Amino acid sequence: MFITLEGIEGSGKTTQIKHLSEFLQSKGQNCVITREPGGTRTGEKIRAILLDPENKNMDSLTELLLYMADRSQHIKKVIYPSLSSGKTVLCDRYYDATVVYQGFARGLDTGLINRLHELVFEDLKPDITILLDLPPETGLMRAWKQIENGSRTALETRFEKETLSFHKKVRAGYLELARKAPLRFRIIDASNDENQVKSDIIKTLSARLI
Ligand code: TMP
Repeated sequence: MFITLEGIEGSGKTTQIKHLSEFLQSKGQNCVITREPGGTRTGEKIRAILLDPENKNMDSLTELLLYMADRSQHIKKVIYPSLSSGKTVLCDRYYDATVVYQGFARGLDTGLINRLHELVFEDLKPDITILLDLPPETGLMRAWKQIENGSRTALETRFEKETLSFHKKVRAGYLELARKAPLRFRIIDASNDENQVKSDIIKTLSARLI
């Protein structure tokens, strides 16, 4: 089973993926938590380039290709091997993030993004995608609080520094993808507190997973 978590900055994916993993492990599933960008040694180096706020002039196509390079390594070295050995893969962001951030928000052709995905990754799709949805004003406020109190690194703030209108496009893009693929997506209200979000995720997945 391949499960992805998506959402804007400050939506709580990283916290919730840990709760979900604990819950699934308690039901006897063998889970792997991973993330994009990152998830492999090479991917963590690509991540550092992609999220470094000093790289603010990065060209959009360069950005897209770096995300694709990260994903190629990640699929081959982590996702496929884990799925093949019967593990449940819980991935903090995946391909939908590329469609939304590089496609809808940066304005790159989503047809090109889809073609690249089909060519390079044989169109590997998650079984379930949990979308943690909340207004960007709330998400960004949470993210910057975490950056200020040191629980999130200031070395990875290139996207947090984008305009509010960029983040509004990201949120709208995710909701549009969820509308088009209602069987795969589960939308969760991430403006609620951590425990409420945790139980909403478990509730929406229980019928399918246990
Ligand atoms: P995160 O690990 O805090 O979610 O940060 C990853 C950032 O990278 C986030 O701002 C979204 C962005 N991103 C893309 O723009 N395209 C992608 O394909 C992925 C996976 C992430």
